[in-house]
Amino acid sequence: MSVIKHDVVIIGAGLAGSLAAAQLAGKYDVAVLAKCYPAQSHSCAAQGGIAAALGNLEEDNEHWHWFDTVKGGDYLVDQDAAKILAYEAPEMIYEMEHMGCPFSRTAEGKIAQRKFGGHTRNYGEKPVLRACFSADRTGHALLHTAFEQLVKHGVHVYPEWYCVDLLVEDGVCRGLVAWNMRDSELHVFHTKAVMFATGGGGQAFLITSNAFANTGDGLVVAYNAGVPLQDMEFFQFHPTGIWKRGILLTEGCRGEGGTLVNDKGERFMEKYSPKLMELAPRDLVTRSITTEILEGRGIGGRDYVYLDMRHLGAKKIMERLPDVHSFIMTYLGIDCIDKPVPIQPTAHYMMGGIPCDVHGQVKTGGAKDKDVAGFFAAGECSCVSVHGANRLGTNSLLDIVVFGKRAGVHAGEYAAGAGHPELPEDPAGAVARMLEDLAGHPEGERA
Ligand code: FUM
Repeated sequence: MSVIKHDVVIIGAGLAGSLAAAQLAGKYDVAVLAKCYPAQSHSCAAQGGIAAALGNLEEDNEHWHWFDTVKGGDYLVDQDAAKILAYEAPEMIYEMEHMGCPFSRTAEGKIAQRKFGGHTRNYGEKPVLRACFSADRTGHALLHTAFEQLVKHGVHVYPEWYCVDLLVEDGVCRGLVAWNMRDSELHVFHTKAVMFATGGGGQAFLITSNAFANTGDGLVVAYNAGVPLQDMEFFQFHPTGIWKRGILLTEGCRGEGGTLVNDKGERFMEKYSPKLMELAPRDLVTRSITTEILEGRGIGGRDYVYLDMRHLGAKKIMERLPDVHSFIMTYLGIDCIDKPVPIQPTAHYMMGGIPCDVHGQVKTGGAKDKDVAGFFAAGECSCVSVHGANRLGTNSLLDIVVFGKRAGVHAGEYAAGAGHPELPEDPAGAVARMLEDLAGHPEGERA
């Protein structure tokens, strides 16, 4: 079994992992290990936007953004962390723009902005134009921009390598064990620091917007290494998944003016959120849809309602929501330019995860909260607690750029002052036995 040495190894090549790696490249020996190819990471699936109070089309400010984030999270948000999120947002948008991210533009050439659920002007008065976007492929555009940085800096990527164990002993992370999926060999990575950017676990649910790869395995590896998980009861359902499939139809559909309609043809959000209507925070919209369905007002009494975008017109739909148009055509055979679309809520995002601070430093949590030295996390697998019990749409891409970058910088600072800690004895033994057992047992369920 080989032992591979790096200063810092990042698990996950989505937006958080790639941006973190870009911070470290050239200064440290950094590698990225991912179970898929970087450009296939789930960040790619984020559609509608990334929040920042740029005020390009109307008045906006960071304080309003901060307030909305705290309120949207049902006041269970770490408010200091949410302040960082809102106030560092504009700078991160410009940083991504300067790296080359092709944002959609206003007529004047500024970064365009659209409305999104729960983002308001003046502390809840009415929806505000705050989500920066690249049509309905914002995650795709940002991920590819970050991936270009990996290529530019020549970061060593191990694609289709799967992290199966984290080596933590005496509160110090010493490396990890990974499985090369191409040849089934196990390898030990000996590191000064490890950062997890392994994404979420929506595949635990039947109807989900999450990719097949989103199995929550990074959380399991952390948990098995003795790190408790935080806020795992907070799982978010996006209001508009394609009926039966769960595939995301961005909140941008409603941000651009799409409406939700029940079997009686009513815009039922009038009852639940008369001020914000379809642009209320997504947990509220999801509960409203579910109430309509449970009370028999789903279309034809079934488990869906309509997302109606017909009044937006072909030009706007094809310019602003081209992927949405094509997904609906592909999976339902419906042209949303002239027909309403059956939708139902879909499991979308995990607010909880690996507990960490605003520098990505993983903590043990609980009464004796301590650092797990050399272990960092960012993105959906982490819980900075910036979203509390409910994340606002477009705050997740923001979370991964703000805290992905911070975690990368901090992991570098840590690695600069640390040596390679001693590896445990027989570091891959337990994993090797587990895999042998899985593959080799003659009876029962076959792996
Ligand atoms: O609706 C969306 O485009 C999803 C965005 C998000 O979850 O932040």
